[in-house]
Amino acid sequence: MFAYPKATLVIASAAAFAAPAVGAPQSAQDRAAAIVVKMTTAEKLALIHGYFPPLAKPVPPVPMVPSAGYIPGIARLGIPALRESDASLGVANQVEQRKGDVATALPAGLATAASFDPELAYAGGAMIGAEARAKGFNVLLAGGVNLTRDPWNGRNFEYLGEDPLLAGTLAGEAIRGVQSNHIVSTVKHFVLNSQETGRMVLDARIAPPALRESDLLAFQLAIERGQPGSVMCAYNRVNGEYACENAALLTGVLKGDWGYRGWVMSDWGAVHSTDKAVMSGLDQESGQELDKIDYFAAPLERAIATGGIPAARLDDMTRRIVFGMVDTGLLDDPVPTTPHQIDYAAHAIVAQRVAEEGMVLLKNESGLLPFAATTKRIVLIGGHADVGVLSGGGSSQVRSVGGAPVEIPLESGAAASFARTTWHASSPLRALRAAFPEARITYVDGRSLAAAQTAARDADLAIVFATQWQTEAMDAAILALPDKQNALIDAVAAANKRTLVVLETGGPVLMPWLGRVSAVLQAWYPGQRGGEALARLLSGAVNPSGHLPITFPIRADDAPRPGPVGIAGIDADGRGAPFTVDYIEGADVGYRWYALKHRKPLFAFGFGLSYTTFRYDRIKINKMQVSFDVTNVGHTAGADVPQVYVEAAGSAGTKTFRLAGWTRVMLAPNETKHVTVALEPRTFARFGDKGDWSIAPDNYRLAVGHFAGDTALATTIHLPLIQSNQ
Ligand code: BGC
Repeated sequence: MFAYPKATLVIASAAAFAAPAVGAPQSAQDRAAAIVVKMTTAEKLALIHGYFPPLAKPVPPVPMVPSAGYIPGIARLGIPALRESDASLGVANQVEQRKGDVATALPAGLATAASFDPELAYAGGAMIGAEARAKGFNVLLAGGVNLTRDPWNGRNFEYLGEDPLLAGTLAGEAIRGVQSNHIVSTVKHFVLNSQETGRMVLDARIAPPALRESDLLAFQLAIERGQPGSVMCAYNRVNGEYACENAALLTGVLKGDWGYRGWVMSDWGAVHSTDKAVMSGLDQESGQELDKIDYFAAPLERAIATGGIPAARLDDMTRRIVFGMVDTGLLDDPVPTTPHQIDYAAHAIVAQRVAEEGMVLLKNESGLLPFAATTKRIVLIGGHADVGVLSGGGSSQVRSVGGAPVEIPLESGAAASFARTTWHASSPLRALRAAFPEARITYVDGRSLAAAQTAARDADLAIVFATQWQTEAMDAAILALPDKQNALIDAVAAANKRTLVVLETGGPVLMPWLGRVSAVLQAWYPGQRGGEALARLLSGAVNPSGHLPITFPIRADDAPRPGPVGIAGIDADGRGAPFTVDYIEGADVGYRWYALKHRKPLFAFGFGLSYTTFRYDRIKINKMQVSFDVTNVGHTAGADVPQVYVEAAGSAGTKTFRLAGWTRVMLAPNETKHVTVALEPRTFARFGDKGDWSIAPDNYRLAVGHFAGDTALATTIHLPLIQSNQ
């Protein structure tokens, strides 16, 4: 029933590496093997470690475009140099290392996740891949699929939320989109890089079966769908071993159980050894200048020469890299090194669609939204909404088309060397003025509460743009909005009941003012067309259809951990003594944790309002497919995201539920469509200590709802005992 070979821990050996993979495309493997046979040892050794261009001093010197990574090619065998760029949300250009090189910036990954739209995830990936190719990059460090375990994690915005099925499915589609351009995408960061605080020194502890059912399931699904050429291992340790020298994960699960044939590259600065890393399954050291020594250069050459590492393992490492190039089409359709034209206008539409489908309407009292076309006076307050929208920081940072109207360098902190607080030039003020040409629309910056109140009193509508900047390498120490923005919202709401709060945040924030404002729109970091998308949603040109991919807690301590673990022991540069993070929630991540603890969230996973209402009827179950009617019972056309949850056994004999499938459906007013949702069997299953999945013989309750915990329709499916070693 499941598509995997028997889960057995494979200890690295030449024989194990040489074993043929089940289902792998034979021709790509054969071709890779035939190429590697022709390589000299020196050529093989050159392929398995990469430079970090900003710090690299290669001998002999080679021209390198400033970006994340470079690995020289082997011209005589037609192997191109690998030019690596970060690309989670677009072709990155952190701190503008390539002066003036812009790219299309998608919204945060959370916006893509909130769309629940696999086709859109594919379109985003395809767009990024096309730009990368036109710029001469052929390996994209993309496909971030770490689950949101903690709402304050600094990189949540780059990822796809808390649910393995949602995140894995969408990551797989995004990877497929990137690779449709005949270039390689990674999936990253393998695995459990779930907080940024102390990411280089922390040991993430979790029960292995729980890991299989959660974060690893997200990777597994992403790999199945996306077939990424490479997997990037993470900085942190997992259950005692560094992720990049973790034999149980790299050799046992990834290459053994899942039969993964591509190559494992390290994160930048994540290698700690030569022999151990190589024999645990790491195939390529990335950005070697960031490691203590060049572990995969001279030390590895010595180990091969003395027989400390079998030559067969070096063959396997290079074969995997070449396999990734062949399998994605990179070898047959090499990327031109001279830049090509990019259709930025067409690509901007993709960014805008993601923003339009990904913003989540959380509250809309007395139909405040959409704003009436007759609205006369609107005031925008704060968040630099006169000039742009906020983006998240770190390696995913795109220098977007249109530039950065606001850019604030960091004075200190672990992200200071590679992040600036950056706004994309997509002005909500300008876009709203275009959408409401008759209205008087003004902006005040919100620094003076009194001025904000006066402006709000003088308007029919007030929109507060609340921002929370998140970045790689740092977590939000608290979940509250920073910089006295809660006081600003309170002041504005006191002056004008018709207040909308637009949240440009990297994840959930606490909302003590929720009861005092009329409407809340979660815009995440909405990308380079965020302003335009927002105007279309507020005017009703687009009906909101985003649904939360993460649970929003009422209080910080409703989550498994109220704040970043170990933050007190980490210095200004992000360094500190090793510590552990115990993922006590196991596989019960996000909404499952809230169900388990009987805690009501502020907004549930899957929740999102529309300008219309949808009704579900006539549920049927046929094998692993649920079908039912969805009717738009309102007066506005719109897209709905009906979700199917299976009730399953949680930890310690409790019950929790899991998203087993969903669909996205567009409906005109009064229209009904009969939809069918395929259920993912692994969401019914538990991963056992013996290394296989099993579904206990039982009646499983299925709930069709608008969000996690909602039951608009319910049915039961009886399943016999199903055990699978796959
Ligand atoms: C990040 C990766 C990124 C790499 C190269 C690391 O710090 O964790 O996501 O791909 O840098 O820029």
